[in-house]
Amino acid sequence: MSIPILLDCDPGHDDAIAILLALASPELELLGLTTVAGNQTLEKTTANALRVLELVGRGDVPVAVGADRPLVREREIAADVHGDTGLDGPDLPPPRGEPVAQAAVEFLAERIAPGVVLVATGPLTNVAHLLDHARPDRIVLMGGAIGEGNRTPAAEFNIWVDPEAAARVFASGIDVTMIGLDVTHQAVVGSAGVEELRGVGRVGSVVAELLDFYGRFHRRRYPDLDGSPLHDPVAVATVARPELLDLRPARVAVDLGEQSRGRTNVDWRGRGAPDPNHTVALGIDADAFRRLVVERIASFG
Ligand code: BDR
Ligand code: CA
Repeated sequence: MSIPILLDCDPGHDDAIAILLALASPELELLGLTTVAGNQTLEKTTANALRVLELVGRGDVPVAVGADRPLVREREIAADVHGDTGLDGPDLPPPRGEPVAQAAVEFLAERIAPGVVLVATGPLTNVAHLLDHARPDRIVLMGGAIGEGNRTPAAEFNIWVDPEAAARVFASGIDVTMIGLDVTHQAVVGSAGVEELRGVGRVGSVVAELLDFYGRFHRRRYPDLDGSPLHDPVAVATVARPELLDLRPARVAVDLGEQSRGRTNVDWRGRGAPDPNHTVALGIDADAFRRLVVERIASFG
């Protein structure tokens, strides 16, 4: 039986690949997408979610529009990483379809049910708003870092953009799995992987063009990585194929101060009692993950 998931996202190159991985994974049933401002403005992340679904003929998957700004902070986007459209690189047509009329929080609240996993791959604004209306059994989120951040030395982008929302999510008592930079920087696709993807069909070649663009930023900022980290697809893989991950009980608190704004303080070494509901990923079988991504993207033809 497949696991029903809802995916809250801000596409975004790696969000786009996460959507494709979710659609191509028989372990999962994608009930719908919700969008949030993050990598680009809400208007652009919503258009991109529709463009990705339409690329693979899945315009039937509903998309609901969420928050256009964080709970309290000024809006911040990542055009330096994702370009002016948020999905720069391939020549994807504008969307033909439209989002549903229902707002993201109501859309999610209506579909949250026992066994449904909420996967969040953008700033946590929609998820924080949702907690006033419904409580998912489990949230798997891409965000945070045990070590160095990527938006600032202290903070990863998704948490930095809306730290108050992230703090609410981690303090909610819900079962939260944190997929941070420590693990996503192990899940890198380099030039050999990109060329393999380019050879596996029409969708593979679009993904390769996404990674050509995405790789330019990563080669400059992280020459030691030898490719692009597939941050958001790791969150999807955590639900579909948890055996690929090294997952540990932990306690996570979000720093709301200015100097370390958005830092995730992760205690997984038993300094204090772990929060019974927090899990953090420390590692991944990177080769198996890369094979999974290539195989599943290839399945679109
Ligand atoms: C996260 O920030 C975004 O730029 C990516 O889509 C990913 O969700 C990585 O820090
Ligand atoms: Ca994202």
